[in-house]
Amino acid sequence: MSDILASLPFMDADFKSRSIDAVSQLAAARGPLLKFALPFGGEAWLVTDHALSSSFLADRRLSKASPLQDQSAPGTHRLYRHLLVTDPPEHTRLRRQLRHALAYWTSARIEALARDIIARRLAILDRDETHFDLVAHVAMPAALEIACTIVGIPLDDMAKIHAWNDRLTRSDLDGTDQAAEIADEIEAYLTGLAGKKADHAGDGAWAALRRAASRGDLDRREAMALAYLLLSAGYETTGHLLSSAVWLLAGDRETWRTVAADDDAAVRAIEECLRFNPSLELSTPRYVREDFEMAGMTLRKGDMVFIALGAANRDPSIFRAGSLFECPRAGLAQHLSFGRGPHICPGAGIARVASRTIVQDLARRFPDLSVSADHRLEWIPGLVMRGLRSLPVRTDSE
Ligand code: HEM
Repeated sequence: MSDILASLPFMDADFKSRSIDAVSQLAAARGPLLKFALPFGGEAWLVTDHALSSSFLADRRLSKASPLQDQSAPGTHRLYRHLLVTDPPEHTRLRRQLRHALAYWTSARIEALARDIIARRLAILDRDETHFDLVAHVAMPAALEIACTIVGIPLDDMAKIHAWNDRLTRSDLDGTDQAAEIADEIEAYLTGLAGKKADHAGDGAWAALRRAASRGDLDRREAMALAYLLLSAGYETTGHLLSSAVWLLAGDRETWRTVAADDDAAVRAIEECLRFNPSLELSTPRYVREDFEMAGMTLRKGDMVFIALGAANRDPSIFRAGSLFECPRAGLAQHLSFGRGPHICPGAGIARVASRTIVQDLARRFPDLSVSADHRLEWIPGLVMRGLRSLPVRTDSE
């Protein structure tokens, strides 16, 4: 076994552009479990192949609750004590309430919502331009509106949600800790919103969670943390999938036309985009509960573990020529882009339907859409999230 820390500089934009393949190559050379240096100090395990990733995502020997988590530690404001830092049985109880809160958002309603949002975006674009940044003008605003509508945030307040999210991402990236301050602001906002809808009416998840709290199924803090989690987990992930899907699918004229014309092909195309370029390149962290041996390594109590979802999705033993984007491709049900096990993404259905609808409507409206030829792709640096900073496209034929 090798204890040499792998250098994986996820905060470096150049590395980030090739990070999934870099992790795959390291996996081939060093095996499925290695230690790497974290961007802001410390180290963690990285699980890189598909078999071990699948099993670790559901392994009870790993906990989602940080051993460092206490009231005083930075980043552990009560708003952030939600599903992603909780283990069963508490996790199971919270997850059931989240499922009830999302029950209104059936596939048909998500499709109608996404169709309405993209129609309004297209109307603005039609008036104005044939060249635009798909990230800034379509992907992120559409994803933000979907997330806000699901939670029940009035559209006039969307800019506030975006600004909080932006500040949180930036403070994560530059290592400053503004998380508690931002959480206080978000809490005050959600409390104010609840006051405006004293009857707890509404289709949004925040109203549903408040109803659950008033029935005694959740406490108020838990309801607020779940509402916040829906906003933060659903927004950028969906936005990044949208822009990466356009980048990958519009690159081939025939694929783009097939996506426009054939619903089933569009569903499969989105799955291949998810596999090839997942919005979460690494899972969120897990912590070893007790020492155990795996793949010739000893994991010690308290060690931090990440699952390399992006590299597992390219594992050649599961996906033939996995480092190539291939549309159509078979066997896509095995990708790990929405995780697996108890924490598997509860918004996967929403993300799939919304993205498929929006990408198809774009492909129908702009059959000649292409990525600007001279554009060099730039990925936003970061450990977990993977997304394009911008995607300049033109909708006229060159
Ligand atoms: C393309 C879009 C999306 C991707 C790729 C994605 C991916 C993921 C992944 C990989 C996890 C598990 C993380 C882990 O185990 O460490 C997760 C969890 C979660 N996601 Fe998503 N997600 C997406 C969209 C959404 C949407 C639209 C929502 C809400 C409507 C959502 C809500 C959540 C929540 C609440 C969790 C935590 C679940 C738990 O801990 O039990 N996600 N997501």
